[in-house]
Amino acid sequence: MLAVPTLNLPELFSSQITSRLRVKRIETDRFDVVLGGQEKFRILQLTDTHFGTAAPDARIKDRMSETLIRGLVEEHRPDFIFHTGDFINNDRENPEFGALDFMNSLGVPWSVVLGNHDHPNGKAGQRSLEQYYEGLKEATVGFADKGAGARDYCFRIDLRREDSKPFASLLAFNTGDPQSGMKVNATQTEWFRRQLVADQAKGIDCPFLVMQHIPTIEYHEVYEQKLAIGRRGEAVCFEIDKGEIFSQYVESKRVRAVFCGHDHVNDYTGIYRDVALVYGRCSGFNGYGDWHRGGRLIDIDVRTGRGETRVVLADQAVEKSEWSRTLEKWKFESVG
Ligand SMILES: [Fe+2]
Repeated sequence: MLAVPTLNLPELFSSQITSRLRVKRIETDRFDVVLGGQEKFRILQLTDTHFGTAAPDARIKDRMSETLIRGLVEEHRPDFIFHTGDFINNDRENPEFGALDFMNSLGVPWSVVLGNHDHPNGKAGQRSLEQYYEGLKEATVGFADKGAGARDYCFRIDLRREDSKPFASLLAFNTGDPQSGMKVNATQTEWFRRQLVADQAKGIDCPFLVMQHIPTIEYHEVYEQKLAIGRRGEAVCFEIDKGEIFSQYVESKRVRAVFCGHDHVNDYTGIYRDVALVYGRCSGFNGYGDWHRGGRLIDIDVRTGRGETRVVLADQAVEKSEWSRTLEKWKFESVG
């Protein structure tokens, strides 16, 4: 097992205060986001930017992705940005990590769950996972400390108003690690169960919104059963998932929605066994696929924890009318 240096939490992350939010790390795997008086909490989901490939044409595409993302932030004014992985191509030779500075420069608290391309595979110049996380210290990113230097890369972000219990929690799972099967693994599942037990003891029963790079097998089912709205441009790459974690999500009666990336030309939404399954919209010009790049807005009602979501594209971008249903608001308020 890889030895991980002990981290001094206050050095790693203290708190970020923006005009509307206060973000504070409570534990290595837990953050508190306290809102002001606003009634809606807006997340911009980005995914699959594939930043950092060291080639001239890739650098040009990275600049295009940055322009798109900055434009989405300026137009839609999110409270928070959540990137659902394949953030940086850390599986290529000598990757560049300037995207970390770019994300930090947006002036919006942000988080990321890593995808398969974020994981090193032994080529020259790549960052180990621990080095990658060191570079994420200005982001709202954590891990469950298992002791003796071992980590589970999962964490939660509680969203609440001052002096109130959370109205929703974001649960984040790294699912891109080929070594753990590119799905929510067994020890992450145990961590999920521990959250349920701990919340029960505290009387917390707010909805969970799950963030993970790899879709679960139910994303395939929801489309096959014609329960989905939006486009499927490729087979669902649920890797080796067999439905274990989704059963846990359903049984918990706490998971209202799952947001994923990984498949660059799928962007649909659907409700399956009372859980909303939602694809992000590919945000990066590097990586495969010829769809308009964009993002996904997730608006959560602070009073109820219910929400609605829609895909957003660059200014002036248009799609064929038969493709455009994911550009319309889609409520997941019937769930949970
Ligand atoms: Fe990707």
